[in-house]
Amino acid sequence: MTPPTAVVTALQRADQQHLLAFWDRLDEPAQQAFAAQLEAVDWHVIEEMQRLAAGGSHSRDLSVDLSTAVTPPCLRLGDPKNSIQPIDARHRGAEALGAGSVGAILVAGGQGTRLGCHGPKGLSRVGPLTQAPLFEILLGKLVAVRRRYGRDVPLAIMTSSATDADTRRFLAEHAWCGLDPERVFIFRQHDLPAIDATTGRLLLDAPGHLAVAPDGHGGMLVALAETGGLDWFGNQGAEHIVSFQIDNPLAMPLAAEFLGYHLLSNADFSTQVVRKQAPGDRVGIVVSCDGRHCVVEYSDLPEALAAERLPDGLLRFHAGSIAVHAFAKSFLDAAAARHDSLPLHLAFKAVPYLDGQGNRIVPTSPNAIKFERFIFDLMPLAQRVCVVEIEASEGFAPLKNPPGSASDAIEHVQAALVAHARRLLAKAGVAVAEGVDVELAANRIIDETDIAGLPIADTVIDRPLVIGG
Ligand code: UD1
Repeated sequence: MTPPTAVVTALQRADQQHLLAFWDRLDEPAQQAFAAQLEAVDWHVIEEMQRLAAGGSHSRDLSVDLSTAVTPPCLRLGDPKNSIQPIDARHRGAEALGAGSVGAILVAGGQGTRLGCHGPKGLSRVGPLTQAPLFEILLGKLVAVRRRYGRDVPLAIMTSSATDADTRRFLAEHAWCGLDPERVFIFRQHDLPAIDATTGRLLLDAPGHLAVAPDGHGGMLVALAETGGLDWFGNQGAEHIVSFQIDNPLAMPLAAEFLGYHLLSNADFSTQVVRKQAPGDRVGIVVSCDGRHCVVEYSDLPEALAAERLPDGLLRFHAGSIAVHAFAKSFLDAAAARHDSLPLHLAFKAVPYLDGQGNRIVPTSPNAIKFERFIFDLMPLAQRVCVVEIEASEGFAPLKNPPGSASDAIEHVQAALVAHARRLLAKAGVAVAEGVDVELAANRIIDETDIAGLPIADTVIDRPLVIGG
């Protein structure tokens, strides 16, 4: 077949005719698939990408004056010195969970490049004793919430072209990890093409395929709106929506106290932070500048500023973002209706491509620019932001790196899960012998109160045990 006229015209207009150089080498199904990929390209976004690559400014100003920025005041989980009492927050959060007015988004579209995994990160088996995959642990938390509060938390899972099919297969084969499939909405984020860093042209990574990558977790906003996900949440009764990342099995986005702070402070956007310890920790930081809050990504924070310390020894920018957020649904609806809510960020990357003769080149240094949107860029648009500091040991153990890495590898994640389980058991009055591994069944145990009712109370655990399993 010949390429569709609309595609040819669009490519001519955008000066991207080189993309059809190998069209005749493709069989018909491959031509159809490639035509579909090209038809789906949003050329306005490509223009924006090229403008940014040439040094142009963002669609919305994202600049932050870090010389005057400060770490914003934070509420701390369990701290009676907070302006809102922890007990009041816990009651309010529990009330919202019991009323079924909280929904959740699990961000699971990333490719796990750093981790070196193929397929969804959610399939990574991190349970220290059970080898439970990340999906099972994180979805299990919603099962535990249903058990305690008597209502489902409607869950949207964001996948990408790289993770969608495997995610759906996994959930179908694992009985949706105990959730009601009617209360789960799977939606796919878009891909964005990479462009050649010198010419601004799109790249082919095969004769009939553009080099593309998922459009960042910020892609959730457009994808949710386009697929009817925001309306779905509305129909499910969700007035507030938390979001959390697939890589953190300790995440506690539905902790009643966190939700309570979000609700009682009337925030549009709340976020959990941990105290950043070392300047090189790879977490974004929450800062406040001219009365607005925003997240500055670790790669954008100059080394000298990252290392600055306050007189008491704390890092000046110590509110480390762990990407656990809560949004008022009305705020997400309003943000989705704006065209400029989430500007593109660019990153120089080594992207394999076909040269003019069709040879596949695997560059060793950055040759291309990839683009992503970040959901935390909504923060400066919020009227009220609530920042809640939690202990990393209670809620942040991300799987980012391959085994043997200095941090955030499976061995660190599992050690953190065991340590957390031991602490909850201790709080519930259950002793665990030195060196014995324990694991909490995520779908049963939210906190120590769930342990108190189990037959193990008042015993000493002297062999590896899954609590509540
Ligand atoms: C991210 C945050 C960082 C935060 C840290 C906490 C960004 C840009 N940075 O860093 O501020 O401190 O997590 O762990 O987010 N994902 C998608 N689609 C995409 C890209 C990513 O769903 O297109 C998901 C991944 O599956 C993952 C999460 O987003 O769950 C974070 O992505 P990752 O690239 O691992 O971000 P970090 O650099 O670790």
